[in-house]
Amino acid sequence: MAPTVALYNHNGMVGSHLLRYLLAAHEAGLIILYILHRSGSNIDAIPQGIETRVVNFVKDSPNFDAELNRRAVQGINVFISAAAKADLVNQVAILEALSTSTELATFIPSEYGIYWTEEDYTHDNLKLAKFKDQLVDLAKSLNIPTTIIKVGSIPETTFGKVPDSGINVKENKVSFYGDARTRKTILASLEYIAAGVIELITTHKPSELANKIYQFIEYEPTGEEIIQALTVVHGRPPLIHINTEEELAEQYLKSIQEAIGAATKYKWGKVGFETPGERVTVKSYISIGLEAELKRFATK
Ligand SMILES: NC(=O)c1ccc[n+]([C@@H]2O[C@H](COP(=O)([O-])OP(=O)(O)OC[C@H]3O[C@@H](n4cnc5c(N)ncnc54)[C@H](OP(=O)(O)O)[C@@H]3O)[C@@H](O)[C@H]2O)c1
Repeated sequence: MAPTVALYNHNGMVGSHLLRYLLAAHEAGLIILYILHRSGSNIDAIPQGIETRVVNFVKDSPNFDAELNRRAVQGINVFISAAAKADLVNQVAILEALSTSTELATFIPSEYGIYWTEEDYTHDNLKLAKFKDQLVDLAKSLNIPTTIIKVGSIPETTFGKVPDSGINVKENKVSFYGDARTRKTILASLEYIAAGVIELITTHKPSELANKIYQFIEYEPTGEEIIQALTVVHGRPPLIHINTEEELAEQYLKSIQEAIGAATKYKWGKVGFETPGERVTVKSYISIGLEAELKRFATK
């Protein structure tokens, strides 16, 4: 019997990509998909035949209903959360609902980020990122198995938008820290991550995924390789700025997003991205290549 898989936040940036691959797996009979959504969520993208269930994980909202949530998670083997940043803390209510389920094999919390360390958490603006770790600790204390998905930086949030993560494709600029020219950064497209998560689910028994950490890295270019690729994309070399210690320290203080950009540059140029768990090579998605990936953002 195919495993039952629930997706929460199917309209989000990560969630909408997961949805596409989950729908294909459902169509192929590899999983039975359920969509769990807020009462106001747009469900136009959900084809007929896929069961949709309303949930409300916001505990201080007037219509919070723990029983509704408990019913919504019944029968689910794999619960995938792609909760938005503003919704991350509400995943506590997901855990509370899942703690009553006898059929859950694993919960995939909304992570899809770089692996942060205690050194990173010494920066106040990164302490909030620690909530993702605290949620996993809470799951453990409730005996809820988890599967953690760690990834490289996602181009959509890395190539040129605030925060400054070192690669500004549109403006053809790079800002490096430390030895970034010769050291590798890590990147993973939304397609690669989504294909990878669904590949994991459809090639393993759900129970085999429990209490594991997986990492998806699609590209691992050095700073020099980024310079070369940007030179091809724009027909001229990028402007290169080398961040001073002071500039990086200031960036950490600006905002949570800027702190993530600063920490990414720090890891790239100095300490690396070592991550516990298993690094997965996604076979079901053919990467378009770094140059083509950069090109997508050259005019955005
Ligand atoms: N590694 C990276 O570079 C990277 C980059 C970005 C995100 N991430 C991570 O990926 C995960 C998912 O983030 P995302 O950016 O994909 O999400 P997102 O795009 O921000 O999700 C947006 C959707 O969330 C729902 N939503 C909006 N505001 C909400 C609120 N206040 N409460 C509850 N739901 C709300 C809405 O859907 P409905 O109206 O349909 O409910 C909206 O369409 C997060 O853990 C995030 O940290 C990682």
